[in-house]
Amino acid sequence: MGIQRKVICALDTSSVPEAVATIRRLAPFVGGFKVGHALTLPHGLGVVETLRDAGAQRIFLDLKFHDIPNSVALAVREATRHGVWMMTLHASGGPAMMTAAVEEAQSHSEECQPILLAVSVLTSLNQHILTDHMGTDRTIVEHMAYLSKLAVDCGMDGVVSSPEEVKEIRRAIGHGVIVSPGIRRPDQNLNDHSRTGTGPQALADGADYLVIGRGLMESPDPEKTLTDYYLFDAAGSH
Ligand code: C5P
Repeated sequence: MGIQRKVICALDTSSVPEAVATIRRLAPFVGGFKVGHALTLPHGLGVVETLRDAGAQRIFLDLKFHDIPNSVALAVREATRHGVWMMTLHASGGPAMMTAAVEEAQSHSEECQPILLAVSVLTSLNQHILTDHMGTDRTIVEHMAYLSKLAVDCGMDGVVSSPEEVKEIRRAIGHGVIVSPGIRRPDQNLNDHSRTGTGPQALADGADYLVIGRGLMESPDPEKTLTDYYLFDAAGSH
């Protein structure tokens, strides 16, 4: 797989024309496109077909399901029927929820089965929130590792991890897909970001895919932006 194919472009827009234009521009340079609530709530899940017609062969549906097992299994069924490549669930939904999702995914023919990814600890949370408001004794990375391991033990295909924790998460889950958002360019100011890292570092630590949004969507030359600012020295090491 070419190094650029490890990059997933986040379509963080509610505008279908903007998403379609982005796909037409970026499809040759990236490995997939991430779609969230901003596109699916106003336009329905049928937007997946529209985006596929525009050239997005692999769609990562990032709706972070979290509900009772039966409801999540129904959601996985609908997403699978739309042919998504990857989708996210909250590991904190528990083992029964994740097992129901896995069983639902596996009930479809092999070529249609989506990659199920668990979200462990949102990057918007911090140690203070985890300890003082959510009552967890573990550190963030311990809690991430615990939930990530639980997810793969339930049969989930992989997890989402910020670049900062990828190494520990790879150690905790062994094999399994790791997708890392929060990728920054080396020239970006660190102060307004938390739990971020560069693309080459995340890949070296064990990430399989990097999610990059605005930096790509707003780039006049996405191929150059990817090579020079996000992947820079990674091509040589993979
Ligand atoms: O910051 P950027 O525009 O590259 O974000 C791309 C995607 O990654 C967005 O969909 C955002 O929600 C997600 N993201 C994340 N965790 C972060 C930073 C970004 O999940 N720490």
